[in-house]
Amino acid sequence: MATVLDKRPINPFEVSANAIYTEDQWREPFAKLRAEMPLSWRPESPFGAYWSVVTHDLVQEVELRHDVFSSRWDMGNITIAEAVNGEGFPNFIAQDPPIHTAQRKVIAPAFSPSQILKLEKLVRERTEKLFSELPRGEEFDWVERVSLPLTLGMLCILFDMPFEEWRDIKRWSDWASGVSEDNLNEEYRAQFLLQMGEMLARFDRELEDRRSKPPTDDLLSRMVHSEAMGNMDAMERIANIALLIVGGNDTTRNSMSALVEAFDKYPGEMDRLRADASLIPNAAQEIIRWQSPVTHMRRTALEDTELAGQRIAKGEKVVMWYISANRDERIFPDAERFDVGRENARRHVGFGHGIHRCVGARLAEVQLHAVIEQMLKLPGRVVPQGKPTRLASPFLHGFTAMPVKIMEA
Ligand code: HEM
Repeated sequence: MATVLDKRPINPFEVSANAIYTEDQWREPFAKLRAEMPLSWRPESPFGAYWSVVTHDLVQEVELRHDVFSSRWDMGNITIAEAVNGEGFPNFIAQDPPIHTAQRKVIAPAFSPSQILKLEKLVRERTEKLFSELPRGEEFDWVERVSLPLTLGMLCILFDMPFEEWRDIKRWSDWASGVSEDNLNEEYRAQFLLQMGEMLARFDRELEDRRSKPPTDDLLSRMVHSEAMGNMDAMERIANIALLIVGGNDTTRNSMSALVEAFDKYPGEMDRLRADASLIPNAAQEIIRWQSPVTHMRRTALEDTELAGQRIAKGEKVVMWYISANRDERIFPDAERFDVGRENARRHVGFGHGIHRCVGARLAEVQLHAVIEQMLKLPGRVVPQGKPTRLASPFLHGFTAMPVKIMEA
C-alpha cells in the first residue's frame, strides 16, 4: 500500500501572481513543478493557502473525483479567488450533482449537433463579412476588430438578440468577470450591482416573452420552460445567464487572438493548413491546448482525503492548472510547439474534463474553424506590430490588445 505523506511539498512559486501572465513568464515555474512536485502546497498567497495540481493525469483525477473535490459555490468558489464578500454566483458550473446534472441537462441541447449546424452557418457568414472589412496594410487592434465582435456577436446569435447589441453584452461581461481583489471597493460594488440589475431586467423581459409563448429550441425558451430552471430566483437566473456570457466570451476571444501569436511564432503551420485544409479542426483543438484560455479551475475538498500520496484536509482548496497540464511532455511531446498536425491535440484539458467539461466546446470550435479559414483566405499574413498586451489575471489567459497589420505575401 502506498504511504501517505504528511509533510507537504512547499511550492516555491507564486503561480497565482498576475505578473507571470502579463510578462509571459509562466512556462518555467510550471515546468519545474511538473518535474519536481506534481501536487504542491502554498501556505500563503494573496488568495490564501492552496494546493496546486499541475500534471495532466492529476488534473483529470481531481475532475473525476467530483464527489470529494466540490465545485459548489457555497463551499468557496470555482476560481482561486474567494467569492466576493462570501456571496457566490449560484450557477450550474458552481454546483455538484444532482443540481448540476439537472440544470446542465436543460442547457446542453442548445449545443447539440443539429443546433450547432444552424449556428455554424451564421457564424461563417459573419466571420467572412468581418474579414472582408478589415484594413489591409494598415495597423489595427486584432482584439478590438476581430476577437471581440466575433465572440460577442456569437452570443447575440445564441440569445437570439440583434447583433448590434454586442456592445451591451461586452459591458455586462466585463463587469461579471472583472470582480477581483483589486477592485472590491464600495463604488465598484455599486456600479457592479447597477450593471447586473440592467442585465437582469433585459434578460427577464426576454424570458417573460418566451414564457408566454409555446416552447421552442432556443436557449432562453428551454430555460424558462424547464422544471430545473423554470422557477429560479432572480440571483440564480442572472448567475446562469452570466455564466453563458462569461463562459463563452473571454475564452473564445482569447483563443482567436492566440491564433495570431501562434501562426507568427510558427509560420510553417499556416503553410501546412493551406496545403491540407482537413487539418483545420485539429488546428482549432491545438490552439486551445497551446493557449489554455482558462488558466485554472478550483475545487474544495468536502472531506479529508488523499491525492497523489498527500493528505488533503476538508475545506482546503485545490487548484487545477490547465495551462500546465496542457504542456505536460509525458502526454504532448515537444509541448511548447504549436503543431496543427499534433496527433493527440484533442486530449488537451483546456475545456476541463468529466462532468463539468465545457458545454459550449463545439460552438467554440466552430468559431475557431471559421476564423482559421478566413485567415487562410487573406491575401497575406497577419503580422504582429510590437508586443501584445496580456491580461492581468491568474484565471483567464489572454490579451487586451494585439496590434497587427495584414501584409501582402
Ligand atoms: C465549462 C473552457 C467556450 C460555456 C468550461 C470549463 C472550461 C471551459 C475549462 C470547465 C470547468 C470545470 O471543469 O469546472 C472553455 C474554453 C472555451 C469555452 C477554453 C473556448 C475556447 C465556451 C462557450 C460557451 C461555454 C462558447 C457557451 C456559449 C460553458 C459552460 C460551462 C463551461 C456553461 C459549465 C459546464 C458545467 O459546469 O457543466 N468551459 N469554454 N464555454 N463552459 Fe466553456
